[in-house]
Amino acid sequence: RDQPLVLGIETSCDETGIGIVRGRTLLSNTIASSMAEHARYGGVVPEVAARAHLEALQPSIAAALAEAGVTLADLDAVAVTSGPGLAGALMVGIGAAKGLATGLGVPLYAVNHLVGHIAADILAEDAAPLEYPTVALLVSGGHTSLLLVRDLTSDVELLGETMDDAAGEAFDKIARILGLPYPGGPEIDRAAVSGDPDAIRFPRGLSRASDLHEHRYDFSFSGLKTAVARYVEQQGADASVPDIAASFREAVVDVLVTKALDACARFDVPRLLLGGGVIANRRLREVATARAEAAGVTVRIPPLSLCTDNGAMIAALAAELIASGRAPSTFAFGADSTLP
Ligand code: KG4
Ligand code: ZN
Repeated sequence: RDQPLVLGIETSCDETGIGIVRGRTLLSNTIASSMAEHARYGGVVPEVAARAHLEALQPSIAAALAEAGVTLADLDAVAVTSGPGLAGALMVGIGAAKGLATGLGVPLYAVNHLVGHIAADILAEDAAPLEYPTVALLVSGGHTSLLLVRDLTSDVELLGETMDDAAGEAFDKIARILGLPYPGGPEIDRAAVSGDPDAIRFPRGLSRASDLHEHRYDFSFSGLKTAVARYVEQQGADASVPDIAASFREAVVDVLVTKALDACARFDVPRLLLGGGVIANRRLREVATARAEAAGVTVRIPPLSLCTDNGAMIAALAAELIASGRAPSTFAFGADSTLP
């Protein structure tokens, strides 16, 4: 009871996420997605996402409160994602959070979406507390980032990120080339089951010796995308969708896991935390788990409902900030779409 009751709002992309936590305990986590509205465009349309947030926010907040068995008057703080993400989408959540905090007279915490993904791990049931330092690999439709976390509330270092497409975006674009529906990640995962991952040797982005000085922990998927497109064009009707899906997936997984474990080795960190929607990928879980074990690295993967974008992780991060004595945000912040 003496732990703060925090409501978190997440609207950085296409998920309207409202989560309520008491300290490190998850009370509710409601997610409304506008994914279906973006399907015919093959990717998230920023204005469509922003409008969907506007419609979903109030009902989602009401649902989250009901599920948690609390009322607005019980809240001790409000937290909101201030970036990175789609500017218009972020603004809808920030506006709602400022209104709520003002009306209730409670502190407001603006938090970083990527650090929120790391905080998701705190809410995993039966999980031992997050240990430091840990390397975190966050892979979704909007980001691909490798971070060194020494302290969630004060010391998170960005080691590298994608130079072009996010990993999930690459899955979505390749699915489109293969004529599979959006979102492409699950479709490719499914098609790959009957394919041969060694059938086609697709390029591993930024893994050549010449790339490793400057871009050791950065990612690039545009070369891979071009290679798949060229292969499909050349093979025409002879192309095997399962083989392409399996070989493409293998290339993405290989480069993600190699770079993450390289960071663990280089910084002497025996812990790797995985997050983001792409973690749903079965091959990624398999390869990461096996190769980490061989390297003496412990892998943590929060439940998928906490890995994809959600409000609970935002609330959890704010609860940690409160526990660490951090002062609330002033109200003079806006949406920072490129927040590092
Ligand atoms: O974190 P998330 O739910 O939300 C945003 O990025 O907004 O991630 C969604 C992304 C999509 O690009 C989707 O294709 C990808 O995660 N994804 C997958 C799988 N399931 C979802 N990618 C690869 N394999 C999967 N099984
Ligand atoms: Zn995310």
